Amino acid sequence: MYKGADIISALQFTRSDIERLINYAEEIRCIYERGNRLNVAKGKVMFTAFFEPSTRTRLSFQFAMIKLGGAIIDLGPEEVTSMAKGESPEDTLRTVDSYEPDIIVVRHKEPGFAAKAAQICKTPVINAGDGYNEHPTQALLDVYTMWRFFGHIDGLVVGLMGDLKYSRTISSLSYTLSNFRDISIYFISPRELKPREEVLKTLDQRRIHYEFYEKPEDILERLDVLYVTRLQKERMSLEEYERLKGSYMITYDYLKKFKKIPIILHPLPRVWELTPDVDILPQALYFEQAKNGLYIRMALIRTILGV
Ligand code: NCD
Repeated sequence: MYKGADIISALQFTRSDIERLINYAEEIRCIYERGNRLNVAKGKVMFTAFFEPSTRTRLSFQFAMIKLGGAIIDLGPEEVTSMAKGESPEDTLRTVDSYEPDIIVVRHKEPGFAAKAAQICKTPVINAGDGYNEHPTQALLDVYTMWRFFGHIDGLVVGLMGDLKYSRTISSLSYTLSNFRDISIYFISPRELKPREEVLKTLDQRRIHYEFYEKPEDILERLDVLYVTRLQKERMSLEEYERLKGSYMITYDYLKKFKKIPIILHPLPRVWELTPDVDILPQALYFEQAKNGLYIRMALIRTILGV
């Protein structure tokens, strides 16, 4: 599965792919947490090209590759590349592809850019986020985190909250969850930030139960998972941002009012929508979630490299 493949969309994932990656990530996690190492990617090179800012995704891919014994080359910031002279990202990728890396990880603000990169490059391309469109590897670490906590994905009641329109993690996570049985998705957002039509259409086709809410308190006690996202400021007008800023927020005092608190996930970075005082709750799993990204990406890299 996935040997030499491009990973562009979470629509590619089947239930058995996801389960195999989770099991593989668990195996790798156990090896590393016992203090042992794998050296399976020796001599292999990953190229990371982030044309949009990133902390966790870029660094966890790089850590994952190095920990597997491989090497990484990073494009670096725009100002040190020929993009500063006006070169297109397409030409940059075409050139690097000719140097024959073993994997290319790419992030760009344009929806559909990763698919375009995969057309240009012979090397397998992983989509690390293409505008508002998708972020398939984030969805893998999200479901891996749920699986580690609950021991299963089937039957989970998941609240997706925040900027559901422009957050690429929402589309990819919805597609990924739709492979499982008896999933309920509760979309919690201001009316203007409901998920995009194409996401809802896919859920309809896959017969997934979903509902819309504007206030988390109307549904919170029924949730197993509350997945919070930030307002995607860079994908909307300043006027829209100012209007919607602060329109939803999860705090410690807010959560404490409920008899049952679901586990709280967030792809990070958080801004004002999830306050740091929540961190002390045992349900706050977002930093563990970020750490799980390392293992699931190691599993994915091994699978693509076939090592
Ligand atoms: C997310 C992204 O880039 O889409 N971050 C991440 O990869 N962990 C979420 C976000 O930026 O809001």
